[in-house]
Amino acid sequence: MPVQEVRCSLCRRKIKVHDQYDIPIFDPNTGFAICKNCIKEVSRFLDEHDTNKNRVTTGFAAALSDILKKNKPHVIKAYLDEFIIKQERAKKILSVAAYNHYKRMKYDYEHNSGEEELDKSNVIIMGPTGCGKTALLSHLSRLLDIPFAVTDASSLTEAGFVGSDVEVAVRNLYYAAGKDIERTEHGIIYLDEFDKIARKSGENNSITADPGHEGVQQGLLKMLEGSVVEFTARGQRKHPEAPTIKVNTRNILFIVGGAFVGIEKIIAKRVKKGDSGIGFGAEIPTNEDESKRYDELIHQVRPEDLMKYGIIPEIIGRLPVICTLETLDEDSLLRILTEPKNAPVKQYEKLLAMDNVKLEFEEDALRAVAKKAIERKTGARSLKGIIEDTMLDVMFDIPKSNEPRKVVITAACINEGETPKVLPIDETYTSHIDLNKTIDDNSPDDEEDTPA
Ligand SMILES: Nc1ncnc2c1ncn2[C@@H]1O[C@H](COP(=O)(O)OP(=O)(O)OP(=O)(O)O)[C@@H](O)[C@H]1O
Ligand SMILES: [Mg+2]
Repeated sequence: MPVQEVRCSLCRRKIKVHDQYDIPIFDPNTGFAICKNCIKEVSRFLDEHDTNKNRVTTGFAAALSDILKKNKPHVIKAYLDEFIIKQERAKKILSVAAYNHYKRMKYDYEHNSGEEELDKSNVIIMGPTGCGKTALLSHLSRLLDIPFAVTDASSLTEAGFVGSDVEVAVRNLYYAAGKDIERTEHGIIYLDEFDKIARKSGENNSITADPGHEGVQQGLLKMLEGSVVEFTARGQRKHPEAPTIKVNTRNILFIVGGAFVGIEKIIAKRVKKGDSGIGFGAEIPTNEDESKRYDELIHQVRPEDLMKYGIIPEIIGRLPVICTLETLDEDSLLRILTEPKNAPVKQYEKLLAMDNVKLEFEEDALRAVAKKAIERKTGARSLKGIIEDTMLDVMFDIPKSNEPRKVVITAACINEGETPKVLPIDETYTSHIDLNKTIDDNSPDDEEDTPA
């Protein structure tokens, strides 16, 4: 079919038609067409006016007993163990937080009077970059039977500034809840990169010097305290006539997390243990000393340190559970390469198996990767990048043939950039990998709609 240009019969926008799949509804005889955008709008309208929603909601309350039985803390932790290496305490804290959240909900439904409520325990998690904060929460969100939305706090701005208002966090949850308001009101919001909204120079700073971040914190405080948040549907501009959705945040559990770079210095100043300690003394500390020192300090964090860091006291008061993560050492990084369900090595094995190639990492090579990652000081974050550097040529060349082969990655490939060896396999190589399983790319899938 030659390229054709037609107009959408609803919005009158021009659409180029290369083939029949460009427009889902198109009749070449009459020229009647409806573009994807309009179909989306109609479906959204139908969704929002769905009168069956209430029945689903009652089901939610009724299902809570089953959900509770299924999501005991040790079960949640066992699931997290499949993906996250170390960070035992954090996994425990989050499992308990999620379980208690369900319990509180059940209690709330059973004691509808509202006179005696179980308090919620919002959580703040902190730890060095690349230690698994975002990963931990994104895996938790996939497991739980309640809506869970991750919002990047660094993208938030005070209402009226360019960027997103704090309401976006609730709006993301609303979409994660399938636009069910009652489910939204019992969900969990994770605010990632929370440290990025700290006041620039902590408590000594005057408010006027940093209006944006102060405003974001005030906005978030209202949500944490429990208030009715009003927002418009995705992709719609705020204007007086736009229909809004109202969500009460009273029962939403908030988890905030961030690296809080530099907070260890604030803690060190407070504890003043043995002068300036090993980490910040005159002699050059090794990486290992430094991370030991960091871990030691971070575990002693107290609310006043967060205040000094630039978080307003009222917010800190509403985050009663402080959860610290540890710096990952070489052995942990080594395990991260191979053990988790979505470990980088497993992912490359799957990718190459699809080209009939068996991938082998020598033990030394894996250790070299971990060592390099330690040097880069970005935790597990750089592991994939280091392997990717080595794998690029392999992944470029391998598909040229369909012969069964194997590729061996040695320490020299990692350290000296030697080209990995490609060897023939004599006997037919039968893949031991289940190709029907999807590869976990770790990408969040609740991106904003961009109106065309
Ligand atoms: N403990 C861990 N176990 C398994 N994988 C991990 C662990 N820590 C980090 N990773 C992996 O490393 C990558 C980066 O981790 P993540 O994004 O969770 O870091 P972060 O703690 O959020 O860092 P930042 O403070 O910079 O945001 C992810 O791909 C994640 O899967
Ligand atoms: Mg992160």
